[in-house]
Amino acid sequence: MQYLSTRGGISPIPFTKAVMMGLAEDGGLLLPRTIPRVGSETLNSWQKLSYADLAFEVMSRFVDDIPSSDLKEIIKRSYTTFGAEDITPLVHKGDLHILELFHGPTLAFKDVALQFLGNLFEYLLAKNQSVLNILGATSGDTGSAAIYGVRGKDRINIFILHPHQRVSKVQEKQMTSVLDANVFNIAIRGSFDDAQTIIKKIFTDIEFKNTFNLGAINSINWARVLAQVVYYVRSWLHVAQHEKDSSVDFSIPTGNFGDIFAGYIAKKMLPAGAIRQLVLATNDNDILARFVNNGDYSLGEVKRTSSPSMDIQAASNFERYLYYLMDSDAARTKELMEEFAEHGKIDLSGSQDLIRRDFAAATISEADVVQTIASFHQKYDYVLDPHTAVGVKAAQQFKTVSVPMVCLATAHPAKFGQVVESAIGSPPHVPESLVGIIDKPSRCEVMDSDKKTIQDFVANNGLRA
Ligand SMILES: Cc1ncc(COP(=O)(O)O)c(C=O)c1O
Repeated sequence: MQYLSTRGGISPIPFTKAVMMGLAEDGGLLLPRTIPRVGSETLNSWQKLSYADLAFEVMSRFVDDIPSSDLKEIIKRSYTTFGAEDITPLVHKGDLHILELFHGPTLAFKDVALQFLGNLFEYLLAKNQSVLNILGATSGDTGSAAIYGVRGKDRINIFILHPHQRVSKVQEKQMTSVLDANVFNIAIRGSFDDAQTIIKKIFTDIEFKNTFNLGAINSINWARVLAQVVYYVRSWLHVAQHEKDSSVDFSIPTGNFGDIFAGYIAKKMLPAGAIRQLVLATNDNDILARFVNNGDYSLGEVKRTSSPSMDIQAASNFERYLYYLMDSDAARTKELMEEFAEHGKIDLSGSQDLIRRDFAAATISEADVVQTIASFHQKYDYVLDPHTAVGVKAAQQFKTVSVPMVCLATAHPAKFGQVVESAIGSPPHVPESLVGIIDKPSRCEVMDSDKKTIQDFVANNGLRA
């Protein structure tokens, strides 16, 4: 499988090169040249596969430059760290299916992709006799999933910046209590935006970037999207079999358009109508819902909500969908993204019919998040985290009698204990991996929000090829 840029400025490259490149060199995002379709007979033969075996079947259709036995082994190893035998179990509550994606080491859906990506990086670096220094900023959740993805791995060091005292204590400890020698936590005296700005500036220093082979681990990496396609296919197989119905809807709490884009790829792979509709659920940061409902993709102010991982305006994976919406016209995609960069908005109201063929969207208020957590707990004795509650509330709005609905549960409620407690009146159950975490020894450097200070630290502690 060859990979292309959404902006058309690079020659086609194979999967492994796309993984190492992350962002395409022309500033676009990488996509497979085609989306392989899977027929009913093949799907029948996948019904009883284990998670890892199904992941291999799905992913291998997009990967032809890693020997099958190696890819199988990488995938298998990636899911041994999960606390649920089924990796991403589906539970049935009322008329909804809840897809629990939070059984990985950091209790969030990001583990599903980042455990795989860490092992894939390790494998590719060993093959190429190369090294990688991962540099990223986090507002809380991605940092720990990235750190757990690469902790203790040869040939990889990871530097994660977070805003000092502006992430929750649990989030901070999930990152800083990882004491492996290749993990460097840096708390910046400043905001998440300050941290992100420093990272962006360091990445534009091409000489430094090349000397240290700097890599990113955010959701623009195609391997992350690919790993997430698997659980859509798996849920479809299970629900379609269980409900004897071949059409399924999904509801997805969305910020960066990453997880829902994986659903869109799954929709394209499966037979027509298998995934009927993807419900895009946002919190008060509603740019993506406005896009689906009115074709209005225009930046607003970032609002703080109880689902902070979705407090985002410009969605980093949106460009991938835009490329398909423009019928794979890279020149038009580039033009539109440039227009967005310049004016902070693009008008896609002319594409409404096409968008609505795949998506429905809702914006869920803060009050509705709390009310949904409370009522779900009361009715089903089941605790939702605030992100999942955004998706569940939207699912309730769009659920139709005849089509099963799967809601993606993207984080464990204990990660957002305060909000959950305010909704249900008691703290959520704390899983074993978080018990006592606050008192664990930790390692973290507190630094001024200054590019040179950070760059010097990376230079002193980074691996050199
Ligand atoms: C818990 C949780 N739910 C949902 C999302 C939204 O996912 P995406 O950014 O892929 O749309 C995130 C993203 O960071 C998250 O951490």
